[in-house]
Amino acid sequence: KKPNAIYLPVRDNSQGENLGSLDTWEAWKTTINHYKTKQWYCQPIIDGEISEGVQLQPIYPSYQLDRTLGYYSGASIEQIKQALSIAEYSLPQWRNSPLSQRCDMLRTYAQTLQNNKAELTCLLMYEAGKTLRDALNEIREAIDFCYYYANLAEQSLHAETLVSVTGEKNTLSYQGQGTFLCISPWNFPLAIFTGQIAAALVCGNTVIAKPASVTSLIAFRATELWYTAGLPGYALQLLPFQRGEQAEAVLKDSRIAGVAFTGSTQTAMALQQQLASRGDGAISKLIAETGGINAMIADSTALPEQVILDVIQSAFNSAGQRCSALRVLYVQEDIAEQIERRLVGAMDTLVIGSPEKLNTDIGPVINKAAMDRLFDHIELCRAQNKLIHELPLQEQHNQGYFVPPTLIKLHSIDELPDEVFGPVLHIIRYAREDIDRVINEINRSGYGLTFGIHSRNDHFINKVIAGIEAGNIYINRDQVGAIVGSQPFGGIGLSGTGPKAGGPNYLKSFSREMTVSRNT
Ligand code: SER
Repeated sequence: KKPNAIYLPVRDNSQGENLGSLDTWEAWKTTINHYKTKQWYCQPIIDGEISEGVQLQPIYPSYQLDRTLGYYSGASIEQIKQALSIAEYSLPQWRNSPLSQRCDMLRTYAQTLQNNKAELTCLLMYEAGKTLRDALNEIREAIDFCYYYANLAEQSLHAETLVSVTGEKNTLSYQGQGTFLCISPWNFPLAIFTGQIAAALVCGNTVIAKPASVTSLIAFRATELWYTAGLPGYALQLLPFQRGEQAEAVLKDSRIAGVAFTGSTQTAMALQQQLASRGDGAISKLIAETGGINAMIADSTALPEQVILDVIQSAFNSAGQRCSALRVLYVQEDIAEQIERRLVGAMDTLVIGSPEKLNTDIGPVINKAAMDRLFDHIELCRAQNKLIHELPLQEQHNQGYFVPPTLIKLHSIDELPDEVFGPVLHIIRYAREDIDRVINEINRSGYGLTFGIHSRNDHFINKVIAGIEAGNIYINRDQVGAIVGSQPFGGIGLSGTGPKAGGPNYLKSFSREMTVSRNT
C-alpha cells in the first residue's frame, strides 16, 4: 500500500464544499472521459465580448503530447487600447457600486467555480499537468480566496469615522485605485488568477487580466465564469499576450494604476523598471509575489519519520513546481546518513505518471523548456558527482514532460545557479557548531519565501527563527500549501513586495484612501 505522505492534508477550514475524494473516483473517471476530446480556446475578452485575436497558436498538454488541447489567440494593440478605454470609462461605475454588492459578487463566483469543478479539474490536469488531488486543492484555494476577500472587504473596507479633535466629522474611506493589471503564473493558473482578480475587483478596481500563455485556456474559462456569475463585462477584461510590443503597450499606459504580479523575480524587476520609466510621470504600484530558494533545517533532535514525510511533500508535491517548494535540505551531520537513506527509500515509493491516474504522485512539468532546464541541471550535477538518487523513467514517460524526483548533494547553497523549479531536492550536511554560518548562507541568496525547521529543541527553533529572513516559516511540518486566511502567503527580499496573499493586509494594497473632513 502506498503511503499517503504525498497527499495534501484535507483543508478542513476550506469554505468550499467537498470537491471530491477517493470515494468518488468512479464519478471522476466518467467526468474525465467526458472532457477527453473537448477542444478549448482562449481569446481576448473585451467588455464581456469574446473577440477575434491575433497570432493563433495551438496549445498542447504537458503529457499525451500528440493531443491538441485547444487554441490560443492573443490581443492586438488595438484591442489593448480598447480594453483600457473601457476599463477607464467604467471605473466610476464599478468603484462607486455598493461594497456589499461586490462582496456578494465574489461569493457568487465561488459558487460558480464549485458548480463547474468538473471542467476546471480536467483543464487543470490537461493544461497544467496537475494531479487530480492538486487540481481539486487548487479549485478549493480559488474558492477560499473569494470567500476570504469578500469577508475581509466587509470587515475592513467600510468608511470609518475618526476621533475628532477638530469639531468636524472626519471619515476615512477606501476606494478602488483605478485599473489593475493582474499578471498570473502558470503554476497556479486558477487559484492565483482568481485571487488577484477577486482582490482587485472587491476593492472597486476595474481589472485587466493577463494570464500566463501556457495556461491561458484555464484563464479563459475562469474569466467566462465571472460573467456567468453576473460580473458586468466592463469590470474585467481578459488580454492574453506575450512579451513584446503588446506587453509594452499595456505597461506604458498611465491608465494602469497598479500591477499585481506573480512569477519570477527577474520579470518582477523588469516590470518595476518599465513602470518607473513611463514618460507620463504616473506612479503605479507593483504588488509582486516571486520565487525563492527555500531551505529547511533538520537538527539531530528531529523526528526522522516526520522529516521524511514532510520533505517528500515539500520537495516533490506538484512536481516541485510551487514557489514555496523545498529546494535545499540542511541536515545535521549526526543524523544525515539515516535521513538520506530513508529519503531515498521514500522517493522510491513515489509514482511518476499521468495526472489522470489516481495513484500518481508526480505529474509532468509544465513544458519542454522547463524539462530541458531541469535535465541540464541534473546532468551537470551528475558530471560533478553530486547525484545521490534519481527515480528511473519508463518508456511511457516519453508521452510527457516528466522529470524524475532527484536528490543531489551540495556543500553550499551557493552552488545552485538560481531557483531550480521542479522535483529536484538538494541536501547539505552541517555540523552543530556551524548553525550561524548556515543561517547566513541561506539568507545570502537574497530570497526569503518559505523556510522549514525540524527540531524538538525550542531553544534551537527560536534561534533559527530569529536569524532567518523568510516570509513563511513552518516548524515540524511540510512547507507547502499555505491555507488562505490561516497562513497568509508571500515572501520578503527578492521573493516579493508583500502584502501577503490570503492575509488581512492584502486588500488595502489594492485600495486608495480618502479622508473627508466635514464641518457641520
Ligand atoms: N501558495 C502556495 C503554497 O503555499 C505556493 O504558491 O504552496
